[in-house]
Amino acid sequence: MSDKRSLVLVLQILGLGTNYQSWRLPDSPAERLYDLDLYSEIAQAAEAAKIHSLFLSDGVGTSLERPMGLFEPFTFQTALAARTSKIGVVVTASTTFNAPFNMARLVASLDHLSKGRAGWNIVTSSAGEKNFGTDPLPPHEERYARAEEYVSAVKALWDSWDADARIIDREAGVFVDPSKVRRTNFVSEHYSVEGPLNIDRAPQGTPFLFQAGSSTTGVDFGARHADAIFTSQPDLQEGQEFYKYMKGRVAAFGRNPDDLKILPGLYTVVERTEEEARDTAGRLAEFAAAADWEGMRKNFEGSGFGGVDLSDLDPDKPIPLDRLPEVDDVQGRRSRYEMYRRRVLSGEWTLRELVEHNNAAASGHWDPIGSVEQIADQIQERFEAEAADGFVICPQHFGGYRVITDHLVPELQRRGLFQTEYAGDTLRFNVLGHS
Ligand SMILES: Cc1cc2nc3c(=O)[nH]c(=O)nc-3n(C[C@H](O)[C@H](O)[C@H](O)COP(=O)(O)O)c2cc1C
Repeated sequence: MSDKRSLVLVLQILGLGTNYQSWRLPDSPAERLYDLDLYSEIAQAAEAAKIHSLFLSDGVGTSLERPMGLFEPFTFQTALAARTSKIGVVVTASTTFNAPFNMARLVASLDHLSKGRAGWNIVTSSAGEKNFGTDPLPPHEERYARAEEYVSAVKALWDSWDADARIIDREAGVFVDPSKVRRTNFVSEHYSVEGPLNIDRAPQGTPFLFQAGSSTTGVDFGARHADAIFTSQPDLQEGQEFYKYMKGRVAAFGRNPDDLKILPGLYTVVERTEEEARDTAGRLAEFAAAADWEGMRKNFEGSGFGGVDLSDLDPDKPIPLDRLPEVDDVQGRRSRYEMYRRRVLSGEWTLRELVEHNNAAASGHWDPIGSVEQIADQIQERFEAEAADGFVICPQHFGGYRVITDHLVPELQRRGLFQTEYAGDTLRFNVLGHS
């Protein structure tokens, strides 16, 4: 491990927890699902623990089985920004379902309101097209091709104001220097954006850019644009391979590999003791066993398995190899499918095990169960083995939030692995050490 590396931690506040069954636990505050105070307390505890940023994934489908409290991310993070002062606020927003001008404006507004703490997790999305009149969803490669143009348009809008454009000269009656605000006049195959943006340059200039998408095309997209990658890496060795490959791609695009942080999801059941963690995980598994198998299997087919119909298969046997589509034929969550496909090819996982894993770990993330010390050990191991620069931590159940902020992070601090102060004022400075 080089001396320069330091662990980056991001906390995903996804309602009652990521496990589909988490709402059934007796102490889950399910009745307060839309209560801002509930999440503010977690955000403030995360800030007290010096966690780098809050994070919110986004999807535009409706699930009646999984009431996760998916707020619209900009509204949610703006509310949390108002109740915190140091921690980052990262939204997930799709290049497929929003216009570039609105996106540039929303992210810049969040950056102003949070005083330089905003991040945008760029996704191309794999579902939801029927809500936007964009049915059928453009194929995987086309979504990324559009996203390239899209991000160029958004960056051009952010650059349409110089930082010193607003001069506020009361005597002379000049509010803004017009020579420092330019039309964007961005034209590409899919987008045409006149500009300039209707809000001053954001405090970070280009707000912090996350990216989620780990296929070959997704990696290159992230390697060109992102400050951090959210990826799904359940296996340590595969995580190391991904880490090495991705850092190599960042260098290939002429960037410093240290300027892109690789942050796999950590979908954990963590409690003070191993016994408590096993007890919570056991209860979640019991709920899952009693839950509607059809619904869970369908969800797996859609969210992780390329939309393939597996209804005729014996759940307790591995999926036959002739039922596996080629990776490049999957148009939705391609990298997720590739990861599950490897597990089928290894012959170790039955259909039921895959579906249950998907159910617990929100489609295929690393999902360790254990005490604070055990989870800290595993975080340390993966960080030091260069399988990750840090993690997007997502507790599977509601109680996990405070175990993470009040016990897990202090344990990592005691080990000298995690910061005990924020380095600066903006999210990029805090994560990368420079603006
Ligand atoms: C770890 C991870 C998290 C993702 N989170 C979201 C999300 O919150 N919302 C969304 O619309 N898409 C999300 N995506 C999906 C991708 O943006 C999109 O489906 C993409 O086409 C699949 O990319 P890939 O095959 O390159 O992984 C996520 C993808 C990954 C890998």
